[in-house]
Amino acid sequence: MSSATKVQGVQLDRFFTVAEARLDRWRSLLQAARAWEAAANKPQEEAERYRGIFSSAFAELRQWEDFFAFPGPALLKTLQERAAAGDAIGTVGMAQKISTALLTHSYRTNTAAWENEEQSLTFADRLPGTREASQYRPYFEVLVVSSAQPSAWSELSQELRKLRRPQDKFVYESVFAGNFEDAVLGAILNGSIEAVVIYEGIPLASSHNNPVLREFLTNHFAASGIDTTSGQYSLALAQGLKQLRPELDVYFLSDRQAEKMAGDVGAACVRRIFYQVEEPLELHLSILDGITDRYETPYFDNLQKYAQRPIGTFHALPIARGKSIFKSNWIRDMGEFYGLNLFLAESSATTGGLDSLLEPTGTIKVAQQKAARAFGADHVFFVTNGTSTSNKMVEQALLAPGDIMLVDRNCHKSHHYGAVISGAFPLYVEAYPLTQYSMYGAVPLRTIKKALLDLKAEGRLDRARLLVLTNCTFDGHIYNTERVMEECLAIKPDLIFLWDEAWFGFARFSPFYRRRTAMGAAALLEKKFQDPAYLAAYREQEKKLGADLRPDDTRLLETPLLANPEKARVRVYQTNSTHKSMSCLRQGSMVLVRDPDYHTVEEQFHEAVFTHASTSPNLQIIASLDVARRQMELEGYELVNRAIQLALDLRREVNSHPLISKYFRILGADEMIPAEFRNSGFVDYLTPGANWATAVEAFKEDEFALDVTRLTLVCGAAGFDGTQFKNLLAAEYDIQLNKTSRNSVLLQTNINNTRSDIAQLIKVLVQISQGIEKKLADGGTSAKQAFAARVKSLMTDVPNLPNFSSFFGHFREDPSSLTSEGDMRSAFFCAYREKECEHLKLFSPEIDKRLKEGPALVSANFVIPYPPGFPIMVPGQVIDAQTIEFMRKLDVKEIHGFSATLGLKLLNPAFLQSAKTPSNGANDAKHAKRKQARAHAAD
Ligand SMILES: Cc1ncc(COP(=O)(O)O)c(C=O)c1O
Repeated sequence: MSSATKVQGVQLDRFFTVAEARLDRWRSLLQAARAWEAAANKPQEEAERYRGIFSSAFAELRQWEDFFAFPGPALLKTLQERAAAGDAIGTVGMAQKISTALLTHSYRTNTAAWENEEQSLTFADRLPGTREASQYRPYFEVLVVSSAQPSAWSELSQELRKLRRPQDKFVYESVFAGNFEDAVLGAILNGSIEAVVIYEGIPLASSHNNPVLREFLTNHFAASGIDTTSGQYSLALAQGLKQLRPELDVYFLSDRQAEKMAGDVGAACVRRIFYQVEEPLELHLSILDGITDRYETPYFDNLQKYAQRPIGTFHALPIARGKSIFKSNWIRDMGEFYGLNLFLAESSATTGGLDSLLEPTGTIKVAQQKAARAFGADHVFFVTNGTSTSNKMVEQALLAPGDIMLVDRNCHKSHHYGAVISGAFPLYVEAYPLTQYSMYGAVPLRTIKKALLDLKAEGRLDRARLLVLTNCTFDGHIYNTERVMEECLAIKPDLIFLWDEAWFGFARFSPFYRRRTAMGAAALLEKKFQDPAYLAAYREQEKKLGADLRPDDTRLLETPLLANPEKARVRVYQTNSTHKSMSCLRQGSMVLVRDPDYHTVEEQFHEAVFTHASTSPNLQIIASLDVARRQMELEGYELVNRAIQLALDLRREVNSHPLISKYFRILGADEMIPAEFRNSGFVDYLTPGANWATAVEAFKEDEFALDVTRLTLVCGAAGFDGTQFKNLLAAEYDIQLNKTSRNSVLLQTNINNTRSDIAQLIKVLVQISQGIEKKLADGGTSAKQAFAARVKSLMTDVPNLPNFSSFFGHFREDPSSLTSEGDMRSAFFCAYREKECEHLKLFSPEIDKRLKEGPALVSANFVIPYPPGFPIMVPGQVIDAQTIEFMRKLDVKEIHGFSATLGLKLLNPAFLQSAKTPSNGANDAKHAKRKQARAHAAD
């Protein structure tokens, strides 16, 4: 059964975020109040029934509201009292006011939203500063966790309010929790919380005896690994909250030995420790200082200042300051379109605090350090030419000619070029195919382990230096990054990892995804390797499998391997297209480094930066990288949760809509990931019974998980191929989307999307479905037959996806070897000499003859069809019948590296016969040496 048929009755509103659900609850309350008001003229009994409905809606809503500063206990009390007094009109007015303030966020800046007309006391002073100050001040909430009686909370909150000063850059309100569990709930539910103040001596148990909240809490506890066993709940809370939301600032108010506490290594996660509320102003200032630290964007802030200064430019960038634009007779419209600031903020200088991207010592350096903190890395490099460049930088820095780079053949082309540039030999590991949808999944861990063990068997494991994988893939397959690295390190303790997280940079800011990111998994592994229990478990494994794993031991592929924690080095690199998932200008990308041995490659890393980075990097891109970091540190948690929620909404609506689901379907995890890779038994997010707990369990246990926000919409059943459907949406409905396959398109939700976007898409899908229905109804039998044939061709007659065949013998050190790595760089440069190449038309009989009788067809270059977007041929690869069949069936227009008129570009057989390729001569001696080594290994 596909996930499409299993979507009924799932309470998705509790699944990831309550922010949207909260608004819905307020809208429902308002509706209930209006219905009650409208029933005023009806018989008493009827009106009472409506009042009852309102009361139930209020009770349902009330339990969630303790975790938010607005509307707060006083306004809620008044609302409740109005209802109790039978004042339906007053109740509607108040519910309307609150729900609008929540929807528009006006309560953050508008004091009127907090006013309670019924009381002589106004709540205007609840947001001091906003009334008198005309400038915008960002608003946030502080969670105060204290065992004091709730009656004392309001006083404490007043105390904090009194400390506000006109010069404060931000305004905050306090939210109170009386115990550990409520504090965790607050941090999960309320994305506006940016800082937490914890008093010593808080109790554990929640005061909310509500089954929904209890379930929510239990599931999140399980997910976060929060430890409450010590009985020191205040400290455990500080540590736990930093696991859930590392960006939060945590302050501790100790009532005993603040000095002792300050010296406790377990308290390292606490930003500052105070002795009681000895110094309230200091606490207030510290809270603001913590936010300032995240808010400040050193590069962007300086660029703004720079733009306002009168600067004479005598450098080579006429566009800077905009005079050549604004004074022009002909190009003034460009200035009007982009605005003056763009030009004022342009410079080719690295003076004036603008710093140099190539060798940063000032504002860029600090911005990069802040990004490292935000993303959990040791170092961050900003890159202004996209992740295409970031990948090549990392590969050039870490790989030397002859090193082996294990890499998903289906990865982005930059990695293949990375192999050409570095001279490393790619050893392609294959992802599992999803033939029906003409796409690939991800590379099974078993395949990677086998490749490493084969290298070991051949005596070449020492040359395996880097594993490159795409996490998540274009289509949303997320690796179990922790397990992949752990098991690979068990076989090769110094293997380095490059996770291409081009699409996945945002994932850091969701506790749900974090453990599956490169940096999240690296942190988990580091912790694990320091745990004595892990070492003990490893010693047990050693007894069973031996210290030096034998490649011929068949158990190794089946056994989840532990790494030797005394030897393993957790060396992790990540690249991400910040522009793909955060508020960053196009081409903004980052390289994240978490590598204890980075100092050993630092020089070559800088060389790689010098090689690839432009000497004229775009300042606006650098600034936007800085700002994207700020946003994610301050509101990433909330925004990512919303993107996930919207994706779930879209999945549910499409798959359960009676008309849309006749022609379209969004693939569930069960259809994207075969059952063998879903050990936990997780089926899909929309399956009845699926909840946060099952999803978290799947994220912990399963080999692959599906990124909820990447939605494969099958359009083949509607008679459209991916490209056709993409063009239709763009041309007719102004909807742009990502990638296509033969019978699907890839939709994606991100931090930019809104519920209105989802509504628009649903509406369009309804319209298109109606159009199909009409066409079929009007066209009679012949139209129906043509439609069925088209659907069959798109959905059933799909070409097999060819695996990587092999490199031609000339480009392999040992053509008989078990592993298939090859000297792709030599093959690549062979093609530079025309006489060493030939062209053969794809459909020519010569191709079929050569396939049968030889000589082998050897590709001279990369051939990359879009879609699917991976190289179907790489330089030096033997082209087999499967590949030719795939090429012949391809009906896409864009095939890079292939000209239909000229045909396939091949390396000339005569040349291959006679020539010693650049790799050959050098390899003979090595070959002999390796054979010798293998003979020894066999002994
Ligand atoms: C997996 C992957 N890596 C890297 C890139 C290149 O990123 P950029 O467009 O930032 O150069 C892409 C682009 O689509 C990609 O899909």
